[in-house]
Amino acid sequence: MKKVTIAALAAALSASAAQAADLEAGKVKAMQVCGACHGVNGVSVGDNIPNLAAQRPAYIENQLKAFKEGLRKAGSPTSPVATMAAIATQLSNEDIANVAAFYASLPGAEKGGAKSAQFPNVAKTHVAFPEDYKKTFVRYHTINFPATKQVRHYYANPATIAAAKAGKPMPDGAFILTEVYSAKLENGNPVLGPDGFYVVDKPLLYTAMATGAGWGSEIPDMLRNGDWNYAVFSLDKQHRPINQAECLGCHKPLEGASYLFTLKQLASQK
Ligand code: HEC
Ligand code: HEC
Repeated sequence: MKKVTIAALAAALSASAAQAADLEAGKVKAMQVCGACHGVNGVSVGDNIPNLAAQRPAYIENQLKAFKEGLRKAGSPTSPVATMAAIATQLSNEDIANVAAFYASLPGAEKGGAKSAQFPNVAKTHVAFPEDYKKTFVRYHTINFPATKQVRHYYANPATIAAAKAGKPMPDGAFILTEVYSAKLENGNPVLGPDGFYVVDKPLLYTAMATGAGWGSEIPDMLRNGDWNYAVFSLDKQHRPINQAECLGCHKPLEGASYLFTLKQLASQK
């Protein structure tokens, strides 16, 4: 049990004048969801996720309200602001006051660069590399990524395409794999092929998402994407370490589209 300091109580009180914040309730939320990225102790699990420990409660509260109301938006194409919006819209104002008070009450990281461990139930992925994808999957889409000078080729198995075309929920066994390539460069610029897509230079890695019965059951509802799990594979088909919470969080707003950004492209396959 965390010792509640006078300072923390004072901070909690000033954060929510109308109603005293409930530190224990805030802690429960942190243990269920926030901690998967920010750490239960407020020291985050990764370099692109802010620490929250010892932050001012009013600041935390205001940021969460700004995410919830769409006032704090993505600053760059890679900013995962969509993640926090998806999470904050699932919080009541009371939840917000409670988590703000809880994180503000914690001591800051002792060392800069310290990281918390990921939640095992969220980190666990069931996705295995689909060895036969070149034979059994359909290549359904391509996207150029100018910022990274990369191009991705998107593959799906027939069950995924059939469900997308029928407008049905994804069945168990849906599978999407992307091949990530560096683009061939000329004077530092990607070379375009006749189809308008970058000519590939070298394969770099694979990203994947797949469904299986019960695969989402251990993931907290605020992050859960049905029964989808995620993975990134190196060229030798080994799992690369990822924070699955971030994959889930960023795809979460697409709940109405089976959590897929490219559902339209899947549905328009012949
Ligand atoms: C999937 C990972 C993830 C989860 C889960 C998550 N966050 Fe975040 N959060 C982020 C990332 C990434 C950022 C920073 C990027 C941004 O601006 O969106 C952030 C930013 C914030 C900020 C702004 C901090 C600042 O310095 O401005 C607050 C406050 C916050 N989160 C609170 C929460 C709370 C409370 C929860 C739980 C209810 C939560 N987050 C759950 C990933 C997550
Ligand atoms: C910052 C938000 C964000 C995060 C975090 C994120 N994705 Fe995505 N994902 C996207 C967007 C946008 C697309 C569509 C275009 C593209 O490929 O970038 C996408 C597409 C995909 C696709 C193709 C299927 C689809 O939804 O259209 C796969 C597979 C995928 N992501 C896997 C992952 C994995 C694995 C992770 C975690 C390591 C992850 N994603 C994290 C935003 C995100």
